[in-house]
Amino acid sequence: MNDYKILVNGKMITKKEKLNITSPINSEIIGTVPALSKNDIDKIYRSSEIAFKEWSALEPKLRIKYIEDIKKNLIKMRDEISITMCIEISKPLKSCYQEFDRSIEYIDLTIKSYKDKFMNPKIIDKSIHNVEGKNGFFYRVPLGVVLAISPFNYPVNLSLAKIIPALILGNTVVFKPATQGSLVGSLISKAIYEANLPAGVFNIITGKGSEIGDYLIENNLISMISFTGGVDVGKNIANKKSMIPLVLELGGKDAAIVLKDANIVESAKEITKGTFDYSGQRCTAIKLVYLEKSIADKFIKEVSKNVLELSIGNPIDNPDITPMINQSAANWGKKLIDDAVKKGAKIITGGNMDNNLLFPTVLSEIKKNMLIFDEEQFAPIMPIVIYEDINEVVNSFNSSKYGLQGSIFSKNIKKAHELAKRLNTGTININKSSSRGPDIFPFLGIKDSGFGVQGIDWALESMSRIKGIIENN
Ligand code: G3P
Repeated sequence: MNDYKILVNGKMITKKEKLNITSPINSEIIGTVPALSKNDIDKIYRSSEIAFKEWSALEPKLRIKYIEDIKKNLIKMRDEISITMCIEISKPLKSCYQEFDRSIEYIDLTIKSYKDKFMNPKIIDKSIHNVEGKNGFFYRVPLGVVLAISPFNYPVNLSLAKIIPALILGNTVVFKPATQGSLVGSLISKAIYEANLPAGVFNIITGKGSEIGDYLIENNLISMISFTGGVDVGKNIANKKSMIPLVLELGGKDAAIVLKDANIVESAKEITKGTFDYSGQRCTAIKLVYLEKSIADKFIKEVSKNVLELSIGNPIDNPDITPMINQSAANWGKKLIDDAVKKGAKIITGGNMDNNLLFPTVLSEIKKNMLIFDEEQFAPIMPIVIYEDINEVVNSFNSSKYGLQGSIFSKNIKKAHELAKRLNTGTININKSSSRGPDIFPFLGIKDSGFGVQGIDWALESMSRIKGIIENN
């Protein structure tokens, strides 16, 4: 078992007080990280604040060079990071490699966008805009200390998607990985350490959420928070930090609407994937399926065939379904299944659990009085609602407390577009399940799904502000 060190104020440190990280695969301790105290956190924010002056004043091309070095170091650690991720969060190994590669591409795209759109000021003057007597230079400048908090389900991608844009702009970063994801976080910090950034530019905090969770977000030196995680924590952050920019990516109840002219085989295949990838532990996973009545039997038959073919096992062997992140996540899924069944839902397949492994489950005849109609399962469960009137579907869709994404399956693209316009959510996908990528797209949620926009250009925007310098002639 490894004692993982973390980067704090220019040094890789360890501490006597430690946090054990266990694998969801077999509950064995797979490593420890330092359990930082409140005092440690105070020092970290101070070091970030001090480092900001020098880092933000550095020539952009030098910051880009540091980012390139971080990327090179990460690439050298591709296997170590991907395998650690697989064991730490029980994600199929192949998906861990995909996440890693996607993140490297994210770095490249961020560098490109920064160079093309953020490095130089926007000029508003007479020549282009017909402004008399004034030349305006509008720069993008960093905000200060950015607190980046990442979730367990994308410990590399949703960490680097916050850290890299923040750093390249000239912000300093305090990074808090999810507890399950701390080992990967420590490896990311090692890659940054080996790129020799000035002390304090990047700090990582690991420790017990119950002791430092609130304290972490209260510090007055924080200039911006980018958080991905649960709704309750997101709301707590929003309540505590009212006068700084926030980007919050919270839950979702992304529904798929299957119209009667949909290609049944293709949509059943896509919806199976969209529901069960990483055992449903994605905010963009499909969490409710609306099926038009006349195609319901055929679709359910097709989907249950697909689900029965899903492989189950140890993530290292690349199955489709793996043990869930922890026991309480699996218990929550089981509770939603039992509640639905008690209220009249039909189990098409699955419904059982073995410790924290929840078998892929398809539930039909879901009604509004069942918990799973509204609540986010974050688990391998496909609840199906059979509908006759599309207007009722639009009403239910729009009355969800969430508003992240949704999807429509139909051969009639024009009709799908019209329906998409009526759905009140961040993004609608036509003939594809909901998803954040490609990262070049803006990604956002409304209502309890959060606010602020992510995606390459938008992350850069959210972590900087405009500074105008106006020459008056
Ligand atoms: O749950 C996190 C969310 O960002 C999902 O991303 O790429 O699986 O759609 P993705």
